[in-house]
Amino acid sequence: MSNPRKAVWKKLSLHRDPPLEQLFDDDPARVEKLSGRIELGEVGILFDWSKTHLTDLYLEEFEELAEASDFAEMRRKLFAGEVVNPTEGRAAEHSALRGVGKESSVEEAEALRARMQSLVEAIHEGALGEVKHLIHIGIGGSALGPALAVDALARDHALVDVHVVSNIDGVALEEAFAACDPQTTLLAVASKTFTTIETMTNAKSALEWLQQNGIDDPTGRVIALTAAPEKAVEWGVDETRILPFAESVGGRYSLWSSIGFPIAIAIGWEDFEAMLAGAAAMDRHFRDTDGRANLCLRAAFADQLYTRLRGCQTRAVFCYDERLGLLPDYLQQLEMESNGKSVTAEGEPVTFPTAPITWGGVGTDAQHAVFQLLHQGTNLVPVDFIASIAAGDVLDPAHHRILLTNCFAQGAALMAGGNMSADGRDPARAFPGDRPSATILCDDLDPATLGALIAFHEHRTFANAVLMGINAFDQFGVELGKKMAKDIEGGTASFDASTEALLERAGLK
Ligand code: F6P
Repeated sequence: MSNPRKAVWKKLSLHRDPPLEQLFDDDPARVEKLSGRIELGEVGILFDWSKTHLTDLYLEEFEELAEASDFAEMRRKLFAGEVVNPTEGRAAEHSALRGVGKESSVEEAEALRARMQSLVEAIHEGALGEVKHLIHIGIGGSALGPALAVDALARDHALVDVHVVSNIDGVALEEAFAACDPQTTLLAVASKTFTTIETMTNAKSALEWLQQNGIDDPTGRVIALTAAPEKAVEWGVDETRILPFAESVGGRYSLWSSIGFPIAIAIGWEDFEAMLAGAAAMDRHFRDTDGRANLCLRAAFADQLYTRLRGCQTRAVFCYDERLGLLPDYLQQLEMESNGKSVTAEGEPVTFPTAPITWGGVGTDAQHAVFQLLHQGTNLVPVDFIASIAAGDVLDPAHHRILLTNCFAQGAALMAGGNMSADGRDPARAFPGDRPSATILCDDLDPATLGALIAFHEHRTFANAVLMGINAFDQFGVELGKKMAKDIEGGTASFDASTEALLERAGLK
C-alpha cells in the first residue's frame, strides 16, 4: 500500500528557504500570521513562530501532511479514549484528568480527584497532625512533573515544604532527610506500577529513617500515588491513604492525576484546580481547532521542518524565568521518551529522523555558557524562548526588564547575524544569522498558564508523532537496561568483557 505522506514530503523537500529577514521583508503581515494566542481568563499566552522559516506555502503543505497522516482521526481517537498506543493496546487519557475526554473517563477522574481533594484538605487542616514537610519519592514521570510545578508555583511560599527525591543514589534521599524533621514529615510514594526499583528502595529507606527517628508507625505516614493500588496495599499502605489513578494515564503524562498530590499540597487545592483548568483550555483548543490555527499542530509543523527537512538533531528550550528552570528536564522526558523511536506505529523501520534531542536551560545564565554554539557553531539548533511579561520578583524592575530584553535580543541576534569587528570582516567575529527561534510569551506564570504550557507541549508531542506515523505512548526503549541491571543483581548472567571487568573492579562480582 502506498504511503500518502510520501508524496507530501516530496513536495516539502523541494522548498528552498529564503533567509528569515527576507521573509519579513516579503510579507508585512508575517508577525500576525505566524503568531497565535490562547486566552486563559485574565491572562493568556502568545506564541510567535515568525522567526522560523514557516511560510504560507509550508503551512499549506504541512496541513496536507496532517491530512495524509489522518491527524483529525487520530486526535478524535485520543479524546474519545480509544486505543492510540497500539503496541500496548491502550488509550492515553491524560486530558480526561482535566475534564476533556471520554465521558466515563472524565467521571472516573472526577471521583478520584474528589478523593484526593479530601485528603489534601484534611492534611492542610491538620488531620494527620502537624505536617511541615513532604518527601515525594518517585522517578521519571512520577517525579519530573511534581518537581517542575512545585518549583514553578510554590518555590518560596509553599504551604508545605516539598522535597522530590528520584535518584537511587542515597545522596539524594539523605539530602531530603537533612532538610526535614521526621516528626512533621509525610512520605508520598509515587509510582504508576508500584514496582520501580529506585522508588521502592528509596521508600523503604525513608520508612527506616522515620522509624529510627521515633515514628512508631512509619507506614502510617505514607500516601501512595499509583495506578496499582493493590500493590500499595500489599506493601502495607492503608487504603484510606492510597490515591489511585487510571491505567490509561501514561507516566510522563501523569502530573494531573494523584501524582500531582505534592503540587496540591504545596500550592493548595484551588491553585491545583486552576492548573488543570489551564491545561483543559489547551485541550479544547487542540481538540477543536483545525489546520495552522491549531497552536500545537503548528508547533509540530515547525518541528518537522527543522528535524526532517533541515536535519537538525537537537532542539533547545531556554526559559527566561528562573521558575521554569526544570521545564527543559520535564520536556526531555515528554518528547524523547514519547518520540525517540525507530519504528512506525505499524512496526516498520522508519526512514527519517524522529524526535530530536531536547535540551536547554535558563536565560540569561545560558547566554554566558552555551549560546556561543547557537550563534556561531556548525549545528543549526531551533530554539524556543519562553518568558513571562509579569515579573516573578518584587525587586528593582530593572531585573525583569533586563531579563526580557535579553530574551528578545537573543532571538533577534540569532536571526539577524552580522559582524562585530571594526571593519566588519573578521571571520571569528562573524555571525551567520538566519538561525530560527520561536517565542512563547506568557502574560504571567500563574497556575493556569503553567497548566496550559505543559498541555501545549503534550499535544505538540502527540501531533509530531502523528505526522511521523509513530506511537508516542509506549517506551520499550527503557526496558533492556533495566533487565540487565536486574540480571547483574541476580548474579546469574554474564556480560561482555568490558562490563565484566567493571563489575569486578567495583566489587560487584
Ligand atoms: O523507566 C521509564 C518509566 O517507566 C517512565 O515511563 C515512568 O515515568 C518511570 O519509569 C516511573 O515509573 P513508575 O511510575 O511506574 O514508577
